[in-house]
Amino acid sequence: MAPETSLPSFDLKRNYQRIRDEIGNAIESVLESQHFILGPEVERFEEEIAMYLGTPHAIGCASGSDALLLALMALDTGPGDEVITTPYSFFATASCITRLGAKPVFVDVDPKTYNISPAEVEKAITEKTRAILPVHLFGQMARVEDLLSIAEKREIPIVEDAAQAIGAARFLDGRPVKAGTVGTIGCFSFFPTKNLGAYGDGGLVTTSSKELASRLSRLRVHGAGEQYMHEEVGINSRLDALQAAVLRVRLRHLETWNTERRRAAGRYRLLFAEMNLENVVSIPEEETGNHHTYHQYVLRCEKRDELQNFLKERGIVTRVYYPRPLHLQTCFMSLGYAPGDFPVSEALSRETLALPMFPEILPEEQERVVAEIARFYKKSD
Ligand SMILES: Cc1ncc(COP(=O)(O)O)c(C=O)c1O
Repeated sequence: MAPETSLPSFDLKRNYQRIRDEIGNAIESVLESQHFILGPEVERFEEEIAMYLGTPHAIGCASGSDALLLALMALDTGPGDEVITTPYSFFATASCITRLGAKPVFVDVDPKTYNISPAEVEKAITEKTRAILPVHLFGQMARVEDLLSIAEKREIPIVEDAAQAIGAARFLDGRPVKAGTVGTIGCFSFFPTKNLGAYGDGGLVTTSSKELASRLSRLRVHGAGEQYMHEEVGINSRLDALQAAVLRVRLRHLETWNTERRRAAGRYRLLFAEMNLENVVSIPEEETGNHHTYHQYVLRCEKRDELQNFLKERGIVTRVYYPRPLHLQTCFMSLGYAPGDFPVSEALSRETLALPMFPEILPEEQERVVAEIARFYKKSD
């Protein structure tokens, strides 16, 4: 039995308490308007988030998974095409490719940042490469400058999966550039536990191309530029006004919450150092030039599953992202990959553990987590 003072891996209730009144007012105004799908509230959110990200076009849609699908549809991805991506990510990163009849070409990740390795991407490029799809995993950007230099000389578009990285940035030529604004199209998720979460599903695509923006806007409404006039076959993937209203409130607080996450990550770092655990577990590395927003705080450790159970018995909830890399998923068996193809991703799937991380986590809660981890490794020496 878990002790009464259970520590969750994220705590949306604490967050809601901070903005309860603002949310109530925002929802009420949508209810008064009785305008629920797209419309003025969604347009305002799109303008505000475009401004926040520093991109000319932001188009809301129904989820991060749909954002990826719409992005690849807008780039005319289809049978015979290949899309290079990482096997160490959430399923939607690869399913958007196969749903369009194209082939995911996986390449391994960097063992320190867990992000796609640009050198491996370069080796995997063929005549059939339609796009490169890096993921900014756990809140830290991939090496986009290297990916850009590989992609630009071959005119291959980059679709950024920034589902976990809203507000993350990377310094390029001395200037911070936000995740999702570097490639041809950026994709975001507003799943409730994301750094900017809705109170339901939601997603966003961004682009600096006017042509792609209008194509994406059309694709999300069944391919109709004008109502009931279908220039192509799109999908139904709209952001609704209630979610947009919630997101407008939450966007105003995003920078504060991301700062709080960074502070919590700094505290974990200090605690691991104080407990002399730095050589026992690998804590997340913020690569030079990156502004990490710690969507997850992910350790790499030995005896991962035993540690997770030990913490669970003491009321501390942790999570495994991701227990099976994408190239070894049953539904992708026909792609012909086998265990051993991507050793880093496979090792990470066995060794990583996400600790409780959310803006409101208390210093004493973090102390408790690290103290229990210290106890576990002492005990199991
Ligand atoms: C890396 C990554 N890509 C895509 C998605 C899909 O987003 P959604 O759950 O909003 O469809 C997620 C969400 O979990 C994600 O973490």
